[in-house]
Amino acid sequence: MKPVKVGILGLGTVGGGTVHILQRNAEEIARRAGRGIVVTHACAKEIKKQVEFSTDDIVLTQQLNDVVTDPEIDVIVELLGGTTLAREMTLLAIENGKHVVTANKALIGTHGNEIFKAAQEKGVMVAFEAAVAGGIPIIKVTREGLAANKINWLAGIINGTSNFILTEMRDKGSEFNDVLKEAQDLGYAEANPEFDIEGIDAAHKLTILASLSFGIPLQYDKVYVEGITKITPKDVQYADELGYRIKHLGIAKRTEKGIEMRVHPTFVPHKRLLANVDGVMNAVLVNGDMVGNTLHYGAGAGALPTGSAIVADLVDVVRALTTDPGNRVPHLAFQPNTLSDIPILSIDEVETAYYLRMNVLDKLGVLAQVTNILSQNNISIEAVLQKEPRDEHAEIVLLTHTVLEKQVNVAIQAIEQLGGIEGSVTRMRLETL
Ligand code: HSE
Repeated sequence: MKPVKVGILGLGTVGGGTVHILQRNAEEIARRAGRGIVVTHACAKEIKKQVEFSTDDIVLTQQLNDVVTDPEIDVIVELLGGTTLAREMTLLAIENGKHVVTANKALIGTHGNEIFKAAQEKGVMVAFEAAVAGGIPIIKVTREGLAANKINWLAGIINGTSNFILTEMRDKGSEFNDVLKEAQDLGYAEANPEFDIEGIDAAHKLTILASLSFGIPLQYDKVYVEGITKITPKDVQYADELGYRIKHLGIAKRTEKGIEMRVHPTFVPHKRLLANVDGVMNAVLVNGDMVGNTLHYGAGAGALPTGSAIVADLVDVVRALTTDPGNRVPHLAFQPNTLSDIPILSIDEVETAYYLRMNVLDKLGVLAQVTNILSQNNISIEAVLQKEPRDEHAEIVLLTHTVLEKQVNVAIQAIEQLGGIEGSVTRMRLETL
C-alpha cells in the first residue's frame, strides 16, 4: 500500500523531532500503522536541527497554503503555535478534507469546539495528544483507557517550566526571578514565559483534560488561573517544615454542585508521589470511580517526547483512515451530542484546605484574635506555626481544614483589618489528594 503523505507546518524543535522519529523508526511505525508514514512537504521559515533528520525527500516551502491545500497530502501536522494563523490553517486543512495532528494546546483549549465541529462535518480527524504533557499519553488515557470509569477528579503537574522553577527554589532556596532566568537560559520557558509562570499554558491543558474526563465542552474562559510568580523562598521553606511541597497543579474535579477547574500553586503532602515529581517532568494523577487512582509520569516537552506523541497520533489517524467517521473515537471522548452543560464552579464555590501566612506585631492577644476570626467563620485549624519573634515582629503560619473559598476570603479580609497585622495575608490552597 502507498505510504500516507504528511505535510508539516513548522520545522522547529517539535517538527524536527517528529521527522526524526518518522525517519528513524520508519519500519516499526509502518508495521504498527499498516502503511508507511512519510513527511513529503514542510513549511518552515527556519529549520532547527536539535535532532538529526534529512530534508532530502521533503518539498520545502515558505507558503503555508501550498502545504495545506496540496491534494497530494493526507494529513497536516500543525506546529505553528499561537492561535490566529494556527486556527486559520487548521480550518483550511479541514475544509480541504485533510486530517490534522496538532501539538497546540492554546488552539485546542480556545478554539477546539469550533475545530471539532468543522472536522465532524467534514468527516476528518483532529488529533492532539502532544498538546498536553508532551510525551505522556494522557489524552489516550482519559479518552480511551479509562472509558469504563466515571472520572471523579484529576490533578496534574502539566507545566514543566513552573515545576522546574519550584524545584530549584526548594533545592537551592533561590528567589523566583533568579530561577526564571535560569529556566529561560536553558530554553524551558515558552517564547512568552508569562504563559508558563502565570499558569496560562497549564490552564489550556487543564481545559482539554477536563473536557475529556467529564464530557463537557472546552471552556478555557471558566478556568481559575493563578501562576507561581508570588511564591517566596519563605513559603517553600514553611511548606517543607510542615511536611508539604508546593506544586503548581491543574485540578479538575466533579462535585455535586458542578465542575471545578483551577490552576494554582498547591501544598501537597510530601509523601504523595505527585509531590516528588521534580524538575521539568510532568505527571497527572487521575481518579476514576472503578479503577481508583492512576498516575502518569513523563517528559512534558522536548523534541522527541512531543514528537513521540505526534507520531502516535499519526499512527492512530492512519489506522482509522478507512473507518466510517461515525465509528471513530470522538474528539472529546464522549459522543458530541451527549456533551453535558453541567455548570463550572467559580473559585468562590471551591472547597479546599488553606495555608495562611501573616506578619504580626508581637503583642499579647494577636494570635487569639486571628484564631477567633477563623472560628467565627467556621474555619477549623489543622496546624499553627509561630516563628520566634524578632524586633517585636513575628510570623504566623496556619493550615486550615477544608472550607469554602468564599468563607476564607471573608476571614482573610477581617484578619487584615486587625491592628496587629502587617500587610496582607499570603494564602495558598492545600490538597491532600
Ligand atoms: N512550556 C511548556 C512547559 C512546554 O513548560 O511545560 C510544553 O507544553
